[in-house]
Amino acid sequence: MLVDYSLKMPKNIFAGEHALEQLETILSKDMKKVVIFTDKGILGAGLIEIPKQILESKGIDYSIISEIPAEPNYHQAQEMIDQFKKENADFIIAVGGGSVMDVAKLASILATDAYTVKDLLDDPLLAKKQVTTLMIPTTAGTGSEATPNSIVAIPEKELKVGIVNPEMIADFVILDGRLIKKLPKPIAAATGVDALCHAIECFTSTKANPISNTFALEALDLIMNNIIEACTNPEALEAKNNMLLGSFYAGVAITSSGTTAVHALSYPLGGKYHIAHGVSNAILLTPVMRFNEPAIKENLAKAYDRVVRGGNPDLSVDEKSKYMITEFERIVELLEIPTSLKKFNVPESELEVLVEAGMQVTRLLVNNMREVTPDDARKIYLEVL
Ligand SMILES: NC(=O)c1ccc[n+]([C@@H]2O[C@H](COP(=O)([O-])OP(=O)(O)OC[C@H]3O[C@@H](n4cnc5c(N)ncnc54)[C@H](O)[C@@H]3O)[C@@H](O)[C@H]2O)c1
Ligand SMILES: [Zn+2]
Repeated sequence: MLVDYSLKMPKNIFAGEHALEQLETILSKDMKKVVIFTDKGILGAGLIEIPKQILESKGIDYSIISEIPAEPNYHQAQEMIDQFKKENADFIIAVGGGSVMDVAKLASILATDAYTVKDLLDDPLLAKKQVTTLMIPTTAGTGSEATPNSIVAIPEKELKVGIVNPEMIADFVILDGRLIKKLPKPIAAATGVDALCHAIECFTSTKANPISNTFALEALDLIMNNIIEACTNPEALEAKNNMLLGSFYAGVAITSSGTTAVHALSYPLGGKYHIAHGVSNAILLTPVMRFNEPAIKENLAKAYDRVVRGGNPDLSVDEKSKYMITEFERIVELLEIPTSLKKFNVPESELEVLVEAGMQVTRLLVNNMREVTPDDARKIYLEVL
C-alpha cells in the first residue's frame, strides 16, 4: 500500500556554468545588510570574491562570518549565530560545504533571542524563518542546500544529531561547478561518496516513494557516472557540474525519503572520533549494503538498469544487485578513501560503545528496509574495526 509522501524544495534554483553571476539578479538594492557565512578553507580558495564584487557593485552593505569550524558542535554553531545576530541582516549567503550551510540555515531561524540551538535539540520545530537564505555549495556534497536538516555535534554525548525543521529550507540555491574546481581530492572524494550514500540510501529506504525515487535515481546516475572523473581531473568541469546537480538531487531525495543504516551507524564515528562525515559513510557503505542486500536486491537491480552504461538487462536480480555493491566498493577504493577504522585508532574495545551509540539513531534506523538489531550493528562495526 502506498503511504503518504510529500516534498518541500528551495523555491529558486540556478545551475550551470555561470550560475554564480545570477547572484546579481537575486540581490535587491532594498536589502539593508547581507551576511556571508563561510570558512577559512573557502576564503583561502578565493570563492567569495565574485559574491563580494557583485555586492559591492550593487552598493549593498555586507559582512563576513568566516570562523565556522568543520563539522561544528552546537556550542560553536551558537557562537556564530550570536555574532550574526549583532548584524541585523535581512539576507544570508552561505558559501561553503555542509558545515557552513548548516550553521547558516540555523541562523536563518534563530535571528532573534527567542530560541537557541540547544532549544532546537529538544524541539526542532520551535523556530520560524526570519531571514531569507541563499545556499551556494562548494562541496558536492551534503545536499544541505536542498534539505531542512542541520547537523551538529553534541560533545557532552559524543554524538552528532540532525535538527530537522522545514523552515530551514533555502529560498535560493546556486549550483556552479567552478566552485568545486579546486576542491582538494580527498575532500572531493569523501563528500562525493556522501552524496552517493544519500542517493542509494534514499532509494532503498522504507520512506522511498515515487517523488523521492525520481530524484534518488537521477542523483545516483549522475554521481556514479561522474564521480571518478570529477574527483581526479581538475579540468573536468562538466563532470563537476554533474556532481553538484547529483548531490542537490540526492538532497531533495532526503527531504522526501530519508537515509538509512549507513548514516545511522556513521553518526557515532563523527561524534566520538571526529571522522569526516563523508569518510565514515564511505567506510560503512559496502558492509551495510551487503547486510541490507536480502531486503533491497530488487531496488539495487532497478538501480543497475538505470545507471550502468552498456549493462546487460538479462542478468538476474541477484547478479545486478551484487554488481552494484561491488561497484560502490570499487568507487571507494579507486578514490583512495579509507575502508576501515584502523587508520583512525579506534580500538576494538570500543565496539560496545559504538553499538550503543549507533542503535540510538532510531530516526534513521527505522528507514532501513532490513531491521538492524544490536547484534547486527556489532557485526557491521566489527567488519570495519
Ligand atoms: N544538512 C544536511 O542535509 C547534511 C547532510 C549531510 C551532511 N551534513 C553535515 O555537513 C558537514 C560536512 O560538510 P562537507 O562534507 O560539505 O564538508 P565541510 O563543509 O566540513 O568542509 C570540509 C573542508 O573542506 C573545505 N572546503 C569546502 N569546499 C571547498 C572548496 N571548494 N575548495 C577548497 N576547500 C573547500 C572546508 O574549508 C573544510 O575545511 C557535516 O557536519 C555533516 O554532518 C549535513
Ligand atoms: Zn550525509
